[in-house]
Amino acid sequence: MAEKARIVVLISGAGTNMAALVYASRIGDCPYEVVLVASNDPAAAGLALAAAEGIATFALPHKGMTRDAHDAAMEAAVLESGADTIVLAGYMRILSDGFVERWAGRMLNIHPSLLPKYKGLDTHARAIAAADSHGGTSVHLVTPELDAGEVLAQVRVPIVPGETAESLAERVKLAEHQLYPRAVADYVSRWRNPGWLLEQLRARALALPETSEQESFGSAGFRVGEGKSGKYFAYFSERPHGHDRIALLAKTSGMDELHGLVEDQPETYFKPAFYGASGWVGIILDRPDLDWGDVDAWLQRSWRSVAPKRLTRLLDIADEF
Ligand code: GRF
Repeated sequence: MAEKARIVVLISGAGTNMAALVYASRIGDCPYEVVLVASNDPAAAGLALAAAEGIATFALPHKGMTRDAHDAAMEAAVLESGADTIVLAGYMRILSDGFVERWAGRMLNIHPSLLPKYKGLDTHARAIAAADSHGGTSVHLVTPELDAGEVLAQVRVPIVPGETAESLAERVKLAEHQLYPRAVADYVSRWRNPGWLLEQLRARALALPETSEQESFGSAGFRVGEGKSGKYFAYFSERPHGHDRIALLAKTSGMDELHGLVEDQPETYFKPAFYGASGWVGIILDRPDLDWGDVDAWLQRSWRSVAPKRLTRLLDIADEF
């Protein structure tokens, strides 16, 4: 089992979602641990619970501070805790753009509506007033625009006859307490999720000129060129023979390079069975610190080595400028 992701939970109020995150983290092989609960309100009920659970806490009232100064102090506490992901759970402060941008892709929020509907406040009352059949909740990535980042997961909650904003809020919270721990767990462990890795690889491989996807011996393969004259330049290998890692297979310049890579960086490269004999290298993808820029570079190289001349010639000319 890989090391657990370290999350900080930011709260302003009751902190029931924070509690759900904490208790989920105590069960079995949850892939994250809560290393800090921080708040802009020292009286937030959730802080006392976190402390009683033995979790480090930090509180700093924002009154009398500029947004930037308050955010800087919160961020310093987050960094001090060694957290790699920030999870907002009823944190009722807009964060400054700089803070949000520094944590891009590493900060999540839960919002009590079916986004993109009803960003901002009073979501339940607005859903009822619009006679919607359902309210619900969304977990999304945090971007500078309020409640507008990519939605990672949602749960729909029906609106029943006689519903009030309060009764709906209560039921939506039950859904949130199920959804948030699961969505956070999935997100922090996406780096070893074969489906997610294939999606990333596919988007990158198919962004190269004249490429298509074609299965080969049960693996996703990517080809350049048309029809029968096309050639494979990459394979996604979920369980390469003799390896329990998830890998991209790409073409090297030959055996010398292949063996050099495997010898120097065995945590990144391996010689795959069968394909290795013709100079393909396995590049391990299920690493938390994987650099997708390296993957792009390998895809481009491999593509170039088998692409028809009429395509590479244009790139060679472009390279000269
Ligand atoms: C939740 O409904 C969440 O969607 C919203 O704020 C509320 C926080 O509640 N962002 P709690 O403090 O977790 O109980």
